[in-house]
Amino acid sequence: MNKIVETEKWVQAKLAHDTTGHDWQHIDRVRRNAVLLYKKEGGNREVIELAALLHDVVDDKLVEDVEKAYEEVREWLKSQQVEEENCKHIVHILQTMSFKGGNRPAMATLEGQIVQDADRLDAIGAIGIARTFMYAGAKGTVLYDENIAVRSEMTEEEYRHGKSTAIAHFYEKLLKLTALMNTQTARSLAQERHTYMKEFLVQFKKEWNYHYENAD
Ligand code: ADP
Ligand code: NI
Repeated sequence: MNKIVETEKWVQAKLAHDTTGHDWQHIDRVRRNAVLLYKKEGGNREVIELAALLHDVVDDKLVEDVEKAYEEVREWLKSQQVEEENCKHIVHILQTMSFKGGNRPAMATLEGQIVQDADRLDAIGAIGIARTFMYAGAKGTVLYDENIAVRSEMTEEEYRHGKSTAIAHFYEKLLKLTALMNTQTARSLAQERHTYMKEFLVQFKKEWNYHYENAD
């Protein structure tokens, strides 16, 4: 019995019907990114790969009862004979990654830093652009509105009422991720994706304003 293969199947069954950008393909890309980072940065491969596979199973956007989801993950890891110490480490990584609010704690271990970087890499670049619009479509978010401020200029209340746009999400989050990478390997991989997103935004706004600029 292979823990990784069994966990793949378990996660795949759970996320099979997701259309908000947390589908199995996202998990698989994050796992591949994580393994690639592990090969450059080191760490405990089992912890890295299992945490990457499980990282969205406890997301409050996807499950109603987060505590129950964590309990299921603990039981699952135990059933796969994952050592207690590794199990605790994996759960700690998931908790830190999904931490909400301003004072998000820094990822304490190399394994956690790698999984977080791997997830962030999948949120930027061409894939990040595609996922943003898929998520916005699933949530009914507006594409773009020049009059809607980005999150940093909004009140918490406005944000909760969805007064954001898909394009604003780039400024609220995606363009900040490259500088937040934990590992040097991820930061250098992120560079090309970061530039590509900036070029996309320039082109988007150029086309958006084309009619105004070319009117008499
Ligand atoms: P992750 O799987 O990386 O933790 P999230 O759960 O934060 O990602 O979001 C899933 C995808 O949807 C990501 O690509 C993210 O950038 C995008 N996304 C999250 N919130 C918004 C939003 N308010 N508008 C548009 N896209 C969003
Ligand atoms: Ni993710």
